[in-house]
Amino acid sequence: MVTGRAGYQSDGMRVIHRSGFPMTDEIIIETRGLTKEFNGFVAVGGVDLQVRRGHIHALIGPNGAGKTTFFNLLTKFLVPTRGKIFFEGIDITSASPAELARRGIVRSFQMSAVFPHMTVLDNVRVGLQRTLGTSFHFWKPVSSLRILDSNAMELLESVDLASFAQRVAVELPYGRKRALEIATTLAMDPQLMLLDEPTQGMSHEDVGRITALIRKVAQNRTVLMVEHNMSVVSTIADRITVLQRGQVIADGSYADVSKDPLVMEAYMGSADSEFASTHSSTH
Ligand SMILES: Nc1ncnc2c1ncn2[C@@H]1O[C@H](COP(=O)(O)OP(=O)(O)OP(=O)(O)O)[C@@H](O)[C@H]1O
Ligand SMILES: [Mg+2]
Repeated sequence: MVTGRAGYQSDGMRVIHRSGFPMTDEIIIETRGLTKEFNGFVAVGGVDLQVRRGHIHALIGPNGAGKTTFFNLLTKFLVPTRGKIFFEGIDITSASPAELARRGIVRSFQMSAVFPHMTVLDNVRVGLQRTLGTSFHFWKPVSSLRILDSNAMELLESVDLASFAQRVAVELPYGRKRALEIATTLAMDPQLMLLDEPTQGMSHEDVGRITALIRKVAQNRTVLMVEHNMSVVSTIADRITVLQRGQVIADGSYADVSKDPLVMEAYMGSADSEFASTHSSTH
């Protein structure tokens, strides 16, 4: 059986990369009973969620469902009221944001990691340099700078930005800015990339490009993304968790969750009511 994502074959519980690199069915990140209350209001209420290594996992749900709050809990922007977060089986509930980055959990923010007045190439170089940390110094031979440059160009090529290398970041078209933002995140070589609405506000063409890019970067890493665009979700997500009023109401493949009566009801009359009309589309 072939899963929704090109390049992977699912054989029961095991997912095998077509290049021969075996992907395990291991859980990379897991929450247990994760809860966030704001003055008694339960924004996230006892969420149990498991993300498999190598998956593109989409978190969806109507407005106000608690998706961003859940992301903020994972990335330590918010402290949970209750519950636990495990990364590779280790309890990271009280870990610092720096520790998360060290473990390879990186969240991509809208342009936050991008220096607007630097060139595209320099932005990626800075990202790479930061990752190299103290191993990169000015007294190192010029050859190490060249390595940095070639790595930076390689990264830009991978996100289809090589031809924009010398452009100033702020001048890039919107969709390309989001690609640069993903490139600066990739410079940190994350194991788990968290993307909050990566296609938000994009033209149809840019949505297609970013979707292809996410699929590409997910070939050797895990992606957890909040996404409203159901055609994006149906195209690239290996697994989907649906939140409503802070609770998980469905979890599974797109085919399964899109015909779940609770999910259809949750989306009824909401801005995402296209859910019902897109679920029969390709894949
Ligand atoms: N800091 C806060 N203080 C009080 N209430 C909050 C706070 N942050 C979020 N909420 C509430 O928690 C609920 C969940 O919000 P959240 O932003 O997580 O939803 P969401 O699923 O990301 O929605 P959207 O699809 O609109 O982005 C909402 O009712 C929101 O008003
Ligand atoms: Mg949100």
